[in-house]
Amino acid sequence: MKMAQIKNIGLITSGGDAPGMNAAIRAVVRAALFYDLEITGIRRGFEGMINGDFFPMNRRSVSNIIQRGGTVLKTARSARFLDYEGRKAAYEQLKKFNVDALIAIGGDGTFRGAKAFGEEFDFPIIGLPGTIDNDLLGTDFTIGYDTAINTVINAVDKIRDTAESHDRLFIVEVMGKDCGMIALRTGIAAGAEAILIPENKSGMLKLIDRLENGRKDKTSRIVIVAEGENEEGGAFEVGRHVKEKFPHLDTRVSILGHIQRGGKPTCMDRVLASRTGVAAVEALMEGRKGEMVGIIRDEIVFTPFENACKHNTEIDPNMIRIVEMLSL
Ligand code: F6P
Repeated sequence: MKMAQIKNIGLITSGGDAPGMNAAIRAVVRAALFYDLEITGIRRGFEGMINGDFFPMNRRSVSNIIQRGGTVLKTARSARFLDYEGRKAAYEQLKKFNVDALIAIGGDGTFRGAKAFGEEFDFPIIGLPGTIDNDLLGTDFTIGYDTAINTVINAVDKIRDTAESHDRLFIVEVMGKDCGMIALRTGIAAGAEAILIPENKSGMLKLIDRLENGRKDKTSRIVIVAEGENEEGGAFEVGRHVKEKFPHLDTRVSILGHIQRGGKPTCMDRVLASRTGVAAVEALMEGRKGEMVGIIRDEIVFTPFENACKHNTEIDPNMIRIVEMLSL
């Protein structure tokens, strides 16, 4: 391994938290210590960088966290870091604390900030994909997605019990800012009647067609809607349309909200976090920078920040076909 002159790695979690971020923090800290590097925790993401909220981390700082949701480093969405002045203040803090490289665990907003900062100050940064949304290019799955989708299907299974008892149609809204990845998989796994996602504009028309022309003897129906600025609006908007057009159906709306961001990470998320965490430390030591580390078909891959956060993750049309075919 070609060694770069890195002595002290700063570590942040940034943007929306995701289950498995703690497992990633643990992996980064332990891998850095394994290679005799210093590791500096920075609280509350880029906001904490600007404020100088730094502390040295050791083996014990990450004991007993692999199984915990949230992030022990805390997180924030920093408006100040969007401006050059904020980023300059953050750079000065890094210099003051002798931090010479950074690992940032987060999503697209984090990587946009990391790209600007890395280029302006020629500072080595490696990213880890930490978001429940699974909306980053360069990794099959993001840390937190598997836990979130399991949380969703557990909740929808419960909703199904009451839907069945009352012969109701439930419109269930799941998270995913401008992205239908959570809705897509959970729609299949929960046996949904239909899914409405921003990437597929015909969802509402198909739902109406299904309710008009599909089987009439169904006792319960679940429709999964991704939040966000899609044409149909969120679940309340969809619910309003359905109630207007099908007043005979007993329709309810349920927003799952932030429960999707919490809870114990699944085995898949812990392993993904551990593998990418170790790879991030080794990448910095090899002199890599400005990239996100992900896993594609079980192989570690690196993707430049600008590509990782392009927001054009592709929806497999087969997945939508499967929902339609199986909800006869
Ligand atoms: O990006 C993760 C996410 O949970 C999105 O799915 C959601 O739209 C957003 O964060 C909510 O953010 P906040 O908790 O800041 O309202």
